[in-house]
Amino acid sequence: MTDDVDRNRRHFLTVATAVTGGAGLIAATIPFVASMKPSARAQALGAPVEVPVGMLEPGEMIRVMWRGKLVYVVRRTEEMLSRLASVTEHLRDPDSEVVEQQPEFAVNEYRSLKPEYLVLEGSCTHLGCAPLPEFQVGPADDWQGGFFCPCHGSRFDLAGRVYKSVPAPTNLRVPPYRFLREDLIMIGAESGAA
Ligand code: FES
Repeated sequence: MTDDVDRNRRHFLTVATAVTGGAGLIAATIPFVASMKPSARAQALGAPVEVPVGMLEPGEMIRVMWRGKLVYVVRRTEEMLSRLASVTEHLRDPDSEVVEQQPEFAVNEYRSLKPEYLVLEGSCTHLGCAPLPEFQVGPADDWQGGFFCPCHGSRFDLAGRVYKSVPAPTNLRVPPYRFLREDLIMIGAESGAA
């Protein structure tokens, strides 16, 4: 893809880089190349959206738009995945029993088709704010990284599972998606891994 094309596509997708372990979060929001298949008009009408994920580094997250909704795609590290089991006692629905919040394929400990890639709608289940990625551990003892909603303080873990005693009632929603290839996800079309 050329630089000119990249510039024209920047508004579709950004990438936030989260620093895991050590110093803490985030870093920067930088432009990122998005697939334009199908057309922007088709996307607005609700067509599936292709998202190239091969260039994501471990620990990085990208934001994409699908049906006018913000969707997060996180490439989780092995270390991030290892933290999931340590927070279940603090979660309201650790086993994803609220069926509306994810496709059946995501009812597992990772809430994803492949453990490495997490795909979530970036809309807090309280009143719809966009939760912030905060992938570092602590400072609270029960915080093993995840997403924090600054509007009213809801917290979600690295699989989008909601903590107890926060305003959000349910886990973040997992949209339908599938892998077209190892490095290419289609959001909005469900049917398993590549
Ligand atoms: S909208 Fe997220 S906590 Fe209220």
